[in-house]
Amino acid sequence: MTMKKNVAPALLLLVLSCPLWQVSKSLPMMSRGPMTDSCASHARTLLQNITGALTQNNLFSGINCSKQSVELNLETNTPSVCAPKESTCTGIKKSEFDEKSCLKNIGEDLHHYYKFLVAQPDPDSLLGPTVLFSLREFMENCFPQSLSADLTSKWAAADGTSTYDERLSLCKVLKGFQVRTITINRVIGYMISGEHTK
Ligand SMILES: *[C@@H]1O[C@H](CO)[C@@H](O)[C@H](O)[C@H]1NC(C)=O
Ligand SMILES: *[C@@H]1O[C@H](CO)[C@@H](O)[C@H](O)[C@H]1NC(C)=O
Repeated sequence: MTMKKNVAPALLLLVLSCPLWQVSKSLPMMSRGPMTDSCASHARTLLQNITGALTQNNLFSGINCSKQSVELNLETNTPSVCAPKESTCTGIKKSEFDEKSCLKNIGEDLHHYYKFLVAQPDPDSLLGPTVLFSLREFMENCFPQSLSADLTSKWAAADGTSTYDERLSLCKVLKGFQVRTITINRVIGYMISGEHTK
């Protein structure tokens, strides 16, 4: 148990402490890639809405979510694939930044979380109009390929009430989504800066 509890702060520290990820906002716009300022803004809103949802105790009744472990999406390799050039942050030194593969991993993350969240009971509409809405906007505008046909636009299970296990799982997954979205925000900032093409 102790080990599990410590995962969250350690991960956040890793995510937040990599200096190369801090990209100056004052750099001139020179991005010719697929990421725009509006994508950066969508990613920021999504992060704010996830962070907001994590404070909604009604989503996690019977559970102290801040005490739970973080459950990351292990089907993608976004942190390593999207690590900046010459970065040793993730323990992997890369000389090239593979933009295509990075965007593909992020798209798969978004798809994964959308699919999970849309299936969650949400009787008080604490996810639908916030996290799901901003996630969908982000996908439509910046990762259209991630919106495949198996994603419905409506949160089908919205009316049901959640079980304890569902709430526990939602808490852990949402914390993982928060960590991943911090990474995605940084990656987009990095791409917009044009640093990756130098
Ligand atoms: C979602 O984030 C946006 C941008 O910060 C904010 O305007 C909106 O109120 C948020 N929605 C909720 C319900 O937190
Ligand atoms: C949840 O746990 C945190 C950290 O241990 C604690 O600070 C907070 O007071 C707890 N919240 C509730 C509602 O028990």
